[in-house]
Amino acid sequence: MARIHNFSAGPAVLPLSVLEATREALLDLDGTGIGLAEMSHRSKPFEAIVADAKARLHRLLRLSDDQDVLFLHGGGNTQFFMVPMNLLRGGSAVYLDTGVWANKAVKEAQRFGTVHVPFSSKATGWDHVPAQGGWGEVDPAAVYFHYTSNNTVAGSEFAYVPEVPASVALVCDASSNILSRDVDGSRFDLIYAGAQKNLGPSGVTVVVIRKALLDRCDPNLPTMLRYGVHAENGSLYNTPCTIGIYMIREMCRWIDDQGGVAALELRNQARADRLYTLIDGSSRFRALVRPGSRSNMNVTFTTGDADLDLKVVKAAEKAGISGIKGHRSVGGLRASMYNALPDDAVDAIVAFLSDVDAAG
Ligand SMILES: Cc1ncc(COP(=O)(O)O)c(C=O)c1O
Repeated sequence: MARIHNFSAGPAVLPLSVLEATREALLDLDGTGIGLAEMSHRSKPFEAIVADAKARLHRLLRLSDDQDVLFLHGGGNTQFFMVPMNLLRGGSAVYLDTGVWANKAVKEAQRFGTVHVPFSSKATGWDHVPAQGGWGEVDPAAVYFHYTSNNTVAGSEFAYVPEVPASVALVCDASSNILSRDVDGSRFDLIYAGAQKNLGPSGVTVVVIRKALLDRCDPNLPTMLRYGVHAENGSLYNTPCTIGIYMIREMCRWIDDQGGVAALELRNQARADRLYTLIDGSSRFRALVRPGSRSNMNVTFTTGDADLDLKVVKAAEKAGISGIKGHRSVGGLRASMYNALPDDAVDAIVAFLSDVDAAG
């Protein structure tokens, strides 16, 4: 088996141990004689897996008892409308426009109420996020404040949790940096993340919701679109993505084996620092995001020449380095370095880019 260095932005590399456990489980889940994909979601073994995945996420995200963890369908794009559909109810919300995905979230929310966008870095290619409070006063009557903690396409990331008035719910799209930093999850009223970057495979979306918020959701929505329905039914109202939930549980185990989220954060920071130092010191490459806003998960850079960027992508592929082509809306190069990326992949890309730089 030859696994190459996979810098894909998502679905992304997963730990070998998680893949191997899943391979075993697909044939026979924990000695039951039934494979994971063939097992009823209402069976005792599977219910135990959901409960374990939930409990592990609860601990790793440092949630409190008044927060629930849900496993839903539809990815981040569904949360873009499900959040305002449930919560906005004609009221107003504040959104920070820090990238392609944040921008899409704004557009969906506009269908359901008034959306204030007090900060946008769109004019400069979403090359930075605001400093704490850089969005000015938040109207205490706003229902919620939404931000994207890591901007996967632009390659920027918030190094802090925004402070908002207590009356305003804090909502975060953490699709591309969940569990990559040791964040106090109890500060959030709602967090959502498609699993396919730091948590597992595509097809399952983790939503953390403050229980008190459930009472404020629109009760007249279609059943599957109501957070309350999924909370009341322990994410088993309909058939969930069973493989995805199993793999999230395995990812949580793996995170513990690595020393927990704090240890991963240190490692992720060191790895990103290596790449940014190389890029900043290079005569060939330049970073696309300003210092202070740079992502530890998605390092975006360019040679400044689209043809040359493509040549670098092709040469990287020959060197066993896959997935460094920038998002089609940005171009350039992007190295995604989620939790599961092995350290030798970072060594390989650093060596490769150094060689490209030295070749002049
Ligand atoms: C930050 C962020 N939000 C939302 C999405 C959309 O997620 P999905 O494809 O799961 O709908 C992505 C996808 O890459 C993302 O990076």
